[in-house]
Amino acid sequence: MTDLQPRHPDESAVQMTELILPQHTNALGTCFGGQILSWIDIAAGICSGRHARCTAVTVAFDDVHFVTPIRLGDVVTIRARITLVGRSSMEVWVDVQRGRYDGVTEHANTAYVTFVAVDANRKPREVPALILDNEPDRQRHREALERRAIRLARANHP
Ligand SMILES: CC(C)(COP(=O)(O)OP(=O)(O)OC[C@H]1O[C@@H](n2cnc3c(N)ncnc32)[C@H](O)[C@@H]1OP(=O)(O)O)[C@@H](O)C(=O)NCCC(=O)NCCS
Repeated sequence: MTDLQPRHPDESAVQMTELILPQHTNALGTCFGGQILSWIDIAAGICSGRHARCTAVTVAFDDVHFVTPIRLGDVVTIRARITLVGRSSMEVWVDVQRGRYDGVTEHANTAYVTFVAVDANRKPREVPALILDNEPDRQRHREALERRAIRLARANHP
C-alpha cells in the first residue's frame, strides 16, 4: 500500500561529500562539469525517492551555472532538499560547495531538479504532501511555485 502520510523536508534531505580525484578532472585540472551534474542528479534522486518512498525519475534540470572552478583535491559537499511537491512531481534544490581541509567553503553551484515518482509500469504516481512548518521552507516553496510555472510553460506542458 502507498504511504501518503505528509512528510517534512528534513526527512528526505541529503548531504553527500566527494573528494575530487584525477578521474573527475578535465584537461585544465578542474572538475568536469558533467561529473558535478551527475552528483547533483544522484543527490536529488535519493532525496525525491526518500520523500516518495519509491523510484523517481529525472524530468527536468533548471539552468545550472558553474560559478567557481572546483579543483583537484577539493572536497565537494552536495546538499539536496525538497522544496515543492505536486501530484507526482517533486522539485529538489541542490547546493554545491567546494572546500579544502581548512574548513573554508565556497559556493560552487545551485541547481533545481524535478523528479517524477513512478510505479512499476513507469507511470507517474502520487507522492505525499510536504509539511511546511518554518519560514525558510515556506519561502523556498513560494519561490518553487514560481519556478514550476515558468518550467512548465517552457516545456509546453499543460
Ligand atoms: C517523467 C514521465 C514519467 C512523466 O510522464 P508524463 O506522461 O509526462 O506524465 P504527466 O504529463 O502526467 O506529468 C506527470 C508530472 O510530471 C510533470 N512534468 C512533466 N513534464 C515535465 C517537465 N518537462 N518539467 C517539469 N515537470 C514535468 C507534470 O507537471 C506532472 O506533475 P504533477 O503530477 O506533480 O502535476 C515521463 O515523461 C518520462 O518517463 N520521462 C523520461 C524520464 C527519464 O528517462 N529520465 C532520465 C533518467 S531517470
